[in-house]
Amino acid sequence: MSTALVIGGTSGVGLAVARQLAGRGDAVHIAGRNAERMHRATAAIGGEVQGHVLDAADPAAVAALAARIAPIDRLVITLAGSGGAGPLGDLPLSGLRQAFEEKYWPTVAALQASLAHLGEQASVTLVGAVTARAAMPGTAGIGSLNAAIEGLVRPLAAELAPIRVNAVSPGYIDTPWWDGFEPEQRSAFFEQAAAALPTKRIATAEDIAETIVLLATNPNLTGTVIETDGGALLTA
Ligand SMILES: NC(=O)c1ccc[n+]([C@@H]2O[C@H](COP(=O)([O-])OP(=O)(O)OC[C@H]3O[C@@H](n4cnc5c(N)ncnc54)[C@H](OP(=O)(O)O)[C@@H]3O)[C@@H](O)[C@H]2O)c1
Repeated sequence: MSTALVIGGTSGVGLAVARQLAGRGDAVHIAGRNAERMHRATAAIGGEVQGHVLDAADPAAVAALAARIAPIDRLVITLAGSGGAGPLGDLPLSGLRQAFEEKYWPTVAALQASLAHLGEQASVTLVGAVTARAAMPGTAGIGSLNAAIEGLVRPLAAELAPIRVNAVSPGYIDTPWWDGFEPEQRSAFFEQAAAALPTKRIATAEDIAETIVLLATNPNLTGTVIETDGGALLTA
């Protein structure tokens, strides 16, 4: 049986990944900071999934968990932050730094703390975003953050081989990340965004999770960033 650790697995894309990997028979561990969210997620997945409360930015906590469940065959990191969007001229530097603190640094910290506990044939799968390449006005900050995540993939795939390292680069996804918006505002935004996409739909967490599961499990994939964006890059 393979052991999977999904850091950020208590919501959205990570939760869908955990559900799909559990469905394939993996021993799945999910981690997030909020205990209530973690309990809701383990109940939603059911079965043998194990939940853990930790902050990915805390290397000692990640290393302790990773050591306990080692060897880890599939490490998936799906942390989401909230800042970094807006025209560069208006973006406070402190806000952009905070955005890196929310997504980039915890991703690197968790990955680094897990390395010694990965199996010999393990996979690592990260999540960037279409903003890394879409050239959309107002995304220089958040785009550079996601480019930094995606930029880890190729050098690390070479450095850690035969451990495989990949990432997905999604566009808009309907997940709890959008819960900060009023429901009507969210629906109107999604409707407008979907109309502009070649696929005419907003991705579900399950769509993105299927790609992550492919990257995490297919032994021939390494050093790859798969765009799963509904064709957003064709129109940006
Ligand atoms: N939703 C979109 O439209 C969209 C578009 C492009 C890319 N993405 C990317 O897709 C990935 C997944 O996003 P999502 O929409 O699924 O977000 P989400 O529903 O908000 O889930 C984020 C998960 O990360 C956990 N998390 C965040 N910071 C953490 C930390 N420091 N330590 C441990 N866990 C932490 C959260 O749990 P706690 O808060 O309890 O810690 C939660 O489980 C992210 O990388 C996001 O940037 C999303």
